[in-house]
Amino acid sequence: MIKKCLFPAAGYGTRFLPATKSMPKEMMPVVNKPLIEYGVEEAIQAGMDGMCIVTGRGKHSIMDHFDMNYELENQIRGTNKEELLVDVRDIMDRANFTYIRQREMKGLGHAILTGRELVGDEAFAVVLADDLCVNQDKGVLAQMAELYKQFRCSIVAVQEVPEDETHKYGVISGEMIKDDIFRVDDMVEKPEPGKAPSNLAIIGRYILTPDIFDIIEKTNPGKGGEIQITDALLQQAKTGCVLAYKFKGHRFDCGSVEGYIEATNYCYENLYKKNSQKVELDKKSTHRS
Ligand code: G1P
Repeated sequence: MIKKCLFPAAGYGTRFLPATKSMPKEMMPVVNKPLIEYGVEEAIQAGMDGMCIVTGRGKHSIMDHFDMNYELENQIRGTNKEELLVDVRDIMDRANFTYIRQREMKGLGHAILTGRELVGDEAFAVVLADDLCVNQDKGVLAQMAELYKQFRCSIVAVQEVPEDETHKYGVISGEMIKDDIFRVDDMVEKPEPGKAPSNLAIIGRYILTPDIFDIIEKTNPGKGGEIQITDALLQQAKTGCVLAYKFKGHRFDCGSVEGYIEATNYCYENLYKKNSQKVELDKKSTHRS
């Protein structure tokens, strides 16, 4: 039912300099696939087909990635290298990509508001591609899209984090209304140490109802002088309802070197290797038959 997914992708990725000096952080590969492709796959798995990407200066390679590369494809036609493009070609067949440029970096709330023209007047998902979420079974967005069907309100993904890390996140508090689902009554963007309302940190997956755009428009700059989606969502929680969902799956903070390495090791062992083994087995069995 939710068809569109917004990817704020205009940020500089300063934590990964110098790698991100001329390359978008969303294009950093985890094993052999750029981060943003994992996010797009997650959105497709959740039934979405409209990928709305908020880009900025120097982000051309994201657009190129989800487009044909005639020269390269001509070069490898008929060779076993073609197999390596199967997944991304499938994505291009199944999803539509639209782009808009964010001229100034004024915070995540502002980036989401910039995507308004692409999203229109319908509920939509948001993926922060540097939070890589993997679940063997159902992806995090698919879990959240299912919840949306039931509750029809904005939902943020949360995860318990150690108390000394709450200052890195938006943090919620609320009453648990069902297993792993909370009705949000407070939300603070990057609280000072010791001032977090709980240890439930927001992870980069959201489902937002379209009234959020008008709320963001009226939201004053908050933490760091930026327009924060967390502040807009608190407003929405006060006048309506916002849920927080403790999702099933692993999340890696690929905006940090440590998280990126962990994600690479995990994806190599659990996705890449298993997939290569399966491809080999399939090849053998088609050979035999
Ligand atoms: C953003 C949000 C924050 C959230 C985090 C998740 O912060 O503002 O509320 O917890 O993403 O990764 P950023 O990490 O972009 O500073």
